[in-house]
Amino acid sequence: MSKLRVAVIGVGRMGRRHAENLRFNVHNAELVAVADVDSNAAGKLAAELELEHSYGSTEALLSQQNIDAVVIASPPKFHVSAIQAAASAGKHIFCEKPLALTLAEVNEVEGAVERAGIVLQVGFMRRYDPPYIEAHRRIAAGELGEPIIFKAIGRDREPPPLSYFKSGSGMLFVDASIHEFDLARWLMKDEVAEVHAFGGAIACPDIGQCGDLDAGIVNLRFTRGAIGNVENFRQSRYGYDIATEVVGSKATLRIGYLQQTALTVLSCEHVSHDVVDHFLVRFREAYFNEIQDFVQRVLADQSPAITVQDARKALVISLAAERSYREQRAIKVSSGMEVAQPAP
Ligand SMILES: NC(=O)c1ccc[n+]([C@@H]2O[C@H](COP(=O)([O-])OP(=O)(O)OC[C@H]3O[C@@H](n4cnc5c(N)ncnc54)[C@H](O)[C@@H]3O)[C@@H](O)[C@H]2O)c1
Repeated sequence: MSKLRVAVIGVGRMGRRHAENLRFNVHNAELVAVADVDSNAAGKLAAELELEHSYGSTEALLSQQNIDAVVIASPPKFHVSAIQAAASAGKHIFCEKPLALTLAEVNEVEGAVERAGIVLQVGFMRRYDPPYIEAHRRIAAGELGEPIIFKAIGRDREPPPLSYFKSGSGMLFVDASIHEFDLARWLMKDEVAEVHAFGGAIACPDIGQCGDLDAGIVNLRFTRGAIGNVENFRQSRYGYDIATEVVGSKATLRIGYLQQTALTVLSCEHVSHDVVDHFLVRFREAYFNEIQDFVQRVLADQSPAITVQDARKALVISLAAERSYREQRAIKVSSGMEVAQPAP
C-alpha cells in the first residue's frame, strides 16, 4: 500500500481540519470520502475539496469499498458506535479526544480494536506540538532533575457555540482539561494519584444551564509525590492561552506563547502585539504532525503513538475530577478507575 485511503467522519471544526490536511498536506494519504449527519455539510466540504463521495451517516460511508482508515471527529458521545462499526469493517482509526465518555465505553473500544487487530490512535495533539516535544525531550534527558510541580493553563478566547455543549461533548474536565491531564502524565512521567477539583459557570451562565462549567481548577498529587494544578476557562476574551510549566529539582520549563506575530508596537501610551486566538491556529503544525504520523504508522504496520490506554488514563483523571467537583472533596484516582462515572 503506497497511500493510505482515509475517510473523515464528522466535518465540524476538527473534522474539516483533518480532511484538509489529508487532502492537501499528508502526501502518503488520499482523502476518499467524508461523512456527517448533516449531509449538506459533508456534501459542501466534499465539493470544496473536490472529493467524489460524501455521506450522511457512518454506515453509508463504511459501505464504500476503498477505505483503509477513518478519522472520527464527531461529538464524543458518538465515538464508540463509530469505532465499533469501523473496527468491524477492518478500518484503522484515528479518533479525536476524548476517546469515550465512560470507562465502560473505553472497555468496549478496547475489545473492538483487539478483535479487529487494527491501529487506533487518539488525538492528543499537544504531544505533536514542537515546543511540547522539545520539553518532553529535555525532561527525558534529565535536564530538570526530578519533576516537582506541574502547572497548566488552558483558556479559550470564546466558548464554542451552545450547541457544542448540548451535543454530548463531556463536561469541562472531560472535554477540555483532558488535554492537560494527558500532558501531566506524559511530561511528568508519572500517574496522577489524587485530584481535588473546583468549578463554576460565572462568566457564561448559558453554559451552566447546559449542566456544564465555564471554569475549573484541579489540584493534583502524583504517585511519586509531585504536585500540580490545572486551570481551564472557556472565555478569556484576550486570546487562546495554553501554557504549561514543569518545575524540576534542577531547572524549570515554561511552554507556550501568547504572541502570534513577531511584531510588537511600542508607543508612548502602550506596548502591544497580537494574541493567538484559536486552537486551529496555535496547533496548526501539531494537527498536521499527528495525522501524518498516524498515516505513516499504519502504512509501516507500527503501533499507534497514543493508545487506548493513554485515553483511558486521561479519562480516569477527568472523571475523578468531575466527581471531586460534584462531591466537593478530594478523590483518589485509583478508586476513580472503578467507580468514577459521570452523574446521570
Ligand atoms: N484536539 C483538539 O484540539 C480538539 C479541538 C476541538 C474539538 N476536538 C474534538 O473533536 C471532536 C469534534 O469536535 P468539533 O469541535 O469539531 O465539533 P463540531 O461541533 O464543530 O463538529 C462536530 C460535527 O460532527 C457532526 N456529527 C454529529 N453527530 C454525528 C454522527 N453521529 N456522525 C457523524 N457526524 C456527526 C456534526 O454535524 C458536526 O458537523 C470532539 O471529539 C472534540 O472533543 C478536539
